[in-house]
Amino acid sequence: MDTPRFLHAGTDALLAPDATADRAAASPSPTSQRLLEKFQAIRAKSCEIAAPLSAEDCQVQSMPDASPIKWHLAHTTWFFETFLLADFDSAFEPFSPEFKVLFNSYYNAVGEKHPRAQRGLLTRPPLSKVLEYRQSVDARLLRLAPRLTQAQRSAFDSLLELGLNHEQQHQELMLTDLKHMLSCNPLKPAYIERPSGDQPAAGGTRVAAPIEWIAFSGGIADIGHEGAGFAFDNESPRHQVLLEPYLLADRLVTQGEYLDFINDGGYTKPEFWLSAGWDMVRSAQWHAPLYWEQRDGEWVHFTLFGMCPLDPNAPVAHVSYFEADAYARWAGARLPREAEWERAAPGLVHATEGNMLESASWRPLPVRGDDGPGLKQCYGDVWEWTASGYEPYPRFKSAPGAVGEYNGKFMCNQYVLRGGSCVTPATHIRATYRNFFPADARWQFSGIRLARDS
Ligand SMILES: [Fe+2]
Repeated sequence: MDTPRFLHAGTDALLAPDATADRAAASPSPTSQRLLEKFQAIRAKSCEIAAPLSAEDCQVQSMPDASPIKWHLAHTTWFFETFLLADFDSAFEPFSPEFKVLFNSYYNAVGEKHPRAQRGLLTRPPLSKVLEYRQSVDARLLRLAPRLTQAQRSAFDSLLELGLNHEQQHQELMLTDLKHMLSCNPLKPAYIERPSGDQPAAGGTRVAAPIEWIAFSGGIADIGHEGAGFAFDNESPRHQVLLEPYLLADRLVTQGEYLDFINDGGYTKPEFWLSAGWDMVRSAQWHAPLYWEQRDGEWVHFTLFGMCPLDPNAPVAHVSYFEADAYARWAGARLPREAEWERAAPGLVHATEGNMLESASWRPLPVRGDDGPGLKQCYGDVWEWTASGYEPYPRFKSAPGAVGEYNGKFMCNQYVLRGGSCVTPATHIRATYRNFFPADARWQFSGIRLARDS
């Protein structure tokens, strides 16, 4: 395999104080300095994710919803060039004027965009040029940062933090998009080799404990982000909601349980499905989650390790909202509302507390024996579909300018998912985080937690 060199600029020297800097420049605060260190780490992580791929792998767009890895690498760089370098560097020159259009995703205020469904046709610039673009923007940004004035620094830091969170979102998309791309190849190639000794339960034995229902009282709950720490604008303002008493399943629905739904004719019985969902079952001929197929009478699925047997104890993933809703109906339950999920979820998590990108498990995992009582698998493993449409919170206002297009304009025809997945960076998730996808989307690591009225 022709593996490109995903170099990341060695930029330590660029962070050192610059004796020739403008006298008006204010030294970065410890907070600003930490952001710059985070910038280098997160930028390097994107290249690390792409490293197992060939240049050909990085070129392909397997469907309109998924972007080529090369495009992700360029677009995340475009974000820093467009929203930081162009605005804060008085001597700004674009790396390449054409990139302004090629790598603009959806920002109308920035100008023209290359059509999303045609990103795979961008065989030029080559991957090597995109990697050069990344190095150039990184080096220029790190040279610029120590030269900012005090008046510029706060706005610069806010946009830098937004850019870092944006890149982390794209890191997850890179992995879900490359998984879809590799799944389209009849050779079913692995993205990464499964560590030896890392196998599902022998013989597919079911050992997951039955679901336990955890009760939560009704009443007024405070929902949404407030105070210190980064959050996207769609997580605010914090506000009150009225909840009826409810129950949440203590763990996620497993592949084995979902197989019971299939074996009970779940995909053939319209009574379990929303009308639009039943239309999808019929028109797209859905009969199982994305990536599942039967070989010689056995169910197998495509994973980042290639084709593997199901793990009946691990959470089911790659189901749409329609499938999650139908499963819940079949199971005599319902999906949680997002406020129910957020009120029940423990607070911020750290890398060690969930199965996320840093765990390098590359797939959802069964409940661990030492997880104890209470809600399990809240963070990581799979994004949990909620029954809540993606709407603005009361008094929501988009940020001014082009970055105001980040979230607000998508608040239509989508559902909220909570909790992150096995490929979400651990520093990117929190209790108030609202992900969102259309009801028929299946290529994300999206799964099911059940709820009931009490
Ligand atoms: Fe983006």
